[in-house]
Amino acid sequence: MKQLIAPSILSADFLNLGRDIEMVNKSEADWIHVDVMDGMFVPNISFGFPIIKQVNAIAEKPLDVHLMINDPDRYLQDFKSVGADLLTVHYEACNHLHRTLSRIRELGMKSGVSLNPHTPVSVLEDILDQTDLVLLMSVNPGFGGQKFIPQIIKKVEKLKKMIKEAGTSTLIEIDGGVNYETGKQLIDAGADVLVAGSFVFGADDPQATIKGLKDL
Ligand code: DX5
Ligand code: ZN
Repeated sequence: MKQLIAPSILSADFLNLGRDIEMVNKSEADWIHVDVMDGMFVPNISFGFPIIKQVNAIAEKPLDVHLMINDPDRYLQDFKSVGADLLTVHYEACNHLHRTLSRIRELGMKSGVSLNPHTPVSVLEDILDQTDLVLLMSVNPGFGGQKFIPQIIKKVEKLKKMIKEAGTSTLIEIDGGVNYETGKQLIDAGADVLVAGSFVFGADDPQATIKGLKDL
C-alpha cells in the first residue's frame, strides 16, 4: 500500500485557514490531521470545536483528529458531531482504553491510540483488535517544528511485527519531525501514514511537498 499523507494544520496560517484547507483539498494528501491540546496533557493549547467545525465544512478529506487531552471520554460524541472521521486518544491519558476505543467505533469513527515517545509499543498487545490506527509520536507532543527522535524507527518495526502476529489491519501513523529523510526511513520500517506540519506548511510550495512525501 502506498503511504498515506496527513498534513497537520497546527502549522497552517490561521488567518488564512480556509485557503490552506483548499490547498490540502487540491493536493495528494489523504487526510487532514487536526491537533487538539488542552494545556494539561501537553503544555500547549491549540484549538477546539468551533474551528474544527469550520474546517470540516470545507474539507474534502477525512479529518484525522489527534486528541492531546486528559480524560478524552468526556468529549468523544462532541468530536463526532464536529466532523471527526478518525479519533485518536493518548494511551497515557485514558484509564479504560478498551472502553474508550470501543465507544469511538460505536460512534461511527475509526479508533486510534497514540503513544508518547517513552511508552513502549508492548502496552498495546491486548488492545490491537480494538484499534484501527496506532499513532506513534516521534517528538514529545505539544508543539510543531521539533526534532525527530530516531529511536522511533525501532518502535515502528516492533509494532509492525505485533500487528502482523495479531492479524489485524491496524495502520501505523507517525507524528513529529517528518520530512523527506525521516519519512523515507519510516516507510522502510513499516509506517503506513505520515503526519507532517511544519515541513508542509513551511515549504515554498506546500502542495508539491505533499506530493513529494506521497512519492517517497
Ligand atoms: C505535535 C503534533 C503534531 C505536529 C507535528 O504535538 O501532534 O501533529 O503538528 O508538527 P511537525 O510535523 O512540524 O513536527
Ligand atoms: Zn498530531
